[in-house]
Amino acid sequence: MKLLIQAVFIAALLLMAVPSAHGQDAEYSRKGADTCIACHGDAEIMTLFHTKHGAPSNSQGPFGDGQLQCEACHGPGGAHAGRVRRGQERPSVIRFVADSATPVEEQNGMCLACHQNDVGFSWHTGAHPGDEIGCADCHDLHASADAVRQTSTQPDVCFTCHQMQRSETRKAFSHPIFEGKMDCMGCHNMHGDNAATQLARLNVNDTCQQCHAEKRGPYLWEHAPVSEDCGLCHAPHGSNHPGMLTKRAPLLCQSCHSQSGHPSIPQDAGGLAGGSPSQFLLGQSCTNCHSQVHGSNHPSGSRLMR
Ligand code: HEC
Ligand code: HEC
Ligand code: HEC
Ligand code: HEC
Ligand code: HEC
Ligand code: HEC
Ligand code: HEC
Ligand code: HEC
Ligand code: HEC
Ligand code: HEC
Repeated sequence: MKLLIQAVFIAALLLMAVPSAHGQDAEYSRKGADTCIACHGDAEIMTLFHTKHGAPSNSQGPFGDGQLQCEACHGPGGAHAGRVRRGQERPSVIRFVADSATPVEEQNGMCLACHQNDVGFSWHTGAHPGDEIGCADCHDLHASADAVRQTSTQPDVCFTCHQMQRSETRKAFSHPIFEGKMDCMGCHNMHGDNAATQLARLNVNDTCQQCHAEKRGPYLWEHAPVSEDCGLCHAPHGSNHPGMLTKRAPLLCQSCHSQSGHPSIPQDAGGLAGGSPSQFLLGQSCTNCHSQVHGSNHPSGSRLMR
């Protein structure tokens, strides 16, 4: 019996002493957060207690009963919290910032220790390279409101890295992202089942049809590219052409359709060619006649004209 107790005691000690990033054994502080707060009681750190992570009622969270509190994320801080001799450097804990001494994968590992089931699996198949992008590149865990999870502030978090999408969403015709009415998660999903495409639904069309259900059909007369991929004609992040089109009609239509034997007049580099362009090609262009570009349910709508 005595031996057993001893073994348990030793096992517990071993658990408390895990190898740190620097190779030597590191220990957890004795009093947990109380120790840390003695030096880190500033408001911007304490806001953690306004989040789910800081709630003791969250038994699986860092402040649940028997959990490691601050050190659940920052790693063993016994040496860091201890006395430091004059002239000596304070041993570091895990930092979640760009110049951190801890590799990104290891930082993420601290989070995935608890978030393997809800996030971990999709994280490893997702487009964000897990050894380059940290959870903390998007999530601000000490803030009472995590910017990346608020519609009005989320795009700015993404734009720190995705500059191109910033300029696209500022074009004349775009989704109401800058108005704060929609965020990137309207179409994307960072942690869901479709992590490989990072889209909210399985493919582009399913994603768009969440909100544009009327474009789902079924149509009596389908327009092939519409059922294939909305992105063949629309720039999802924004465009300078009305309707967020990738090109203006007729160029858009003519990228797939030849105009030979057709009432329409083609356009060449000099503009509308032939000297007497059909007036129908101006303004709404091809859609003057073919108004049902997404498909038609009219019995005689085979040419998408009604
Ligand atoms: C005796 C005071 C003291 C205690 C106790 C203390 N820290 Fe620190 N901590 C500091 C100082 C001073 C710095 C700044 C170190 C530097 O700039 O080199 C710091 C820096 C940090 C940083 C920034 C990263 C770094 O290493 O520079 C983190 C994160 C941190 N502490 C977390 C903790 C946690 C978690 C605990 C509890 C386990 C804790 N601290 C306990 C004094 C303390
Ligand atoms: C759920 C994980 C988590 C917990 C728990 C946590 N932190 Fe943090 N901490 C982070 C992350 C991530 C950052 C990086 C900045 C951010 O996201 O807010 C950070 C940043 C910090 C910083 C600034 C470090 C720097 O590099 O400038 C300090 C200091 C700090 N934490 C101390 C603490 C203390 C003290 C506690 C306990 C009261 C604590 N943290 C609990 C995740 C956590
Ligand atoms: C000790 C376990 C633990 C650790 C470590 C941990 N979390 Fe959590 N986290 C939780 C729990 C529990 C919740 C609450 C889940 C719920 O109530 O739905 C949570 C919630 C969250 C949420 C959602 C918060 C909300 O308000 O809904 C985010 C985002 C999150 N964690 C990210 C992280 C990141 C990033 C890290 C690493 C820096 C991390 N977590 C580390 C246990 C943990
Ligand atoms: C590219 C930005 C980004 C990165 C990187 C990221 N997240 Fe998230 N995370 C989000 C967004 C956005 C949401 C909100 C999802 C929503 O509103 O539907 C979220 C939500 C969450 C939630 C809440 C529960 C859920 O599934 O909605 C948890 C927990 C979470 N993230 C943990 C993590 C962890 C752990 C990591 C690192 C392995 C991580 N996140 C990396 C953007 C990110
Ligand atoms: C810290 C930088 C960073 C942040 C912040 C970030 N990303 Fe990314 N993102 C990347 C990197 C790096 C890739 C990998 C592909 C690449 O190199 O472009 C990527 C890939 C993607 C992809 C897939 C690209 C493809 O080619 O398939 C999508 C979609 C995406 N991010 C959306 C988002 C959204 C939405 C947010 C905000 C919630 C966000 N990202 C925040 C850096 C970031
Ligand atoms: C209206 C839907 C929608 C919204 C809103 C949206 N995206 Fe996208 N995004 C898409 C589609 C569709 C793709 C192309 C995916 C494909 O073809 O596989 C894409 C692709 C991307 C890519 C990969 C690069 C590329 O252009 O192919 C990144 C990065 C990206 N989006 C970031 C963002 C960011 C950041 C936001 C928020 C500001 C955002 N997206 C909002 C639909 C959207
Ligand atoms: C989360 C909902 C949502 C999703 C998903 C969505 N949209 Fe939209 N879409 C909107 C809203 C809101 C508007 C603006 C309507 C308005 O201003 O009246 C809009 C407007 C548009 C417009 C008209 C723009 C204009 O200038 O008239 C087009 C085209 C469009 N969306 C295409 C798409 C495509 C393509 C996708 C998929 C890549 C998509 N949408 C996904 C909500 C969504
Ligand atoms: C063959 C090219 C093409 C494809 C593919 C396409 N569209 Fe369009 N879409 C157009 C054109 C052209 C307009 C402008 C119509 C106009 O001027 O009235 C438009 C307009 C729109 C509008 C705004 C006006 C309206 O009719 O509500 C929405 C929303 C829209 N499309 C959604 C979608 C969705 C969702 C998909 C995929 C299911 C899709 N489109 C596929 C060509 C296309
Ligand atoms: C990405 C390629 C693509 C684009 C862009 C495109 N189409 Fe089509 N369109 C097709 C395909 C493929 C068919 C089916 C042809 C078939 O069944 O023989 C089709 C069919 C049609 C038909 C019906 C033809 C028939 O035989 O009944 C009309 C009308 C039409 N498109 C008009 C347009 C107009 C107007 C535009 C521009 C707004 C446009 N298309 C843009 C690929 C495209
Ligand atoms: C003045 C009205 C009008 C305009 C403008 C117009 N079309 Fe047509 N289109 C028609 C009619 C009428 C037919 C049916 C012709 C037939 O059955 O012989 C047709 C047929 C088609 C077909 C079916 C294939 C074929 O040749 O029979 C396609 C594809 C098509 N148009 C594409 C376009 C494109 C692309 C544009 C713009 C460059 C365009 N149309 C502009 C009236 C128009």
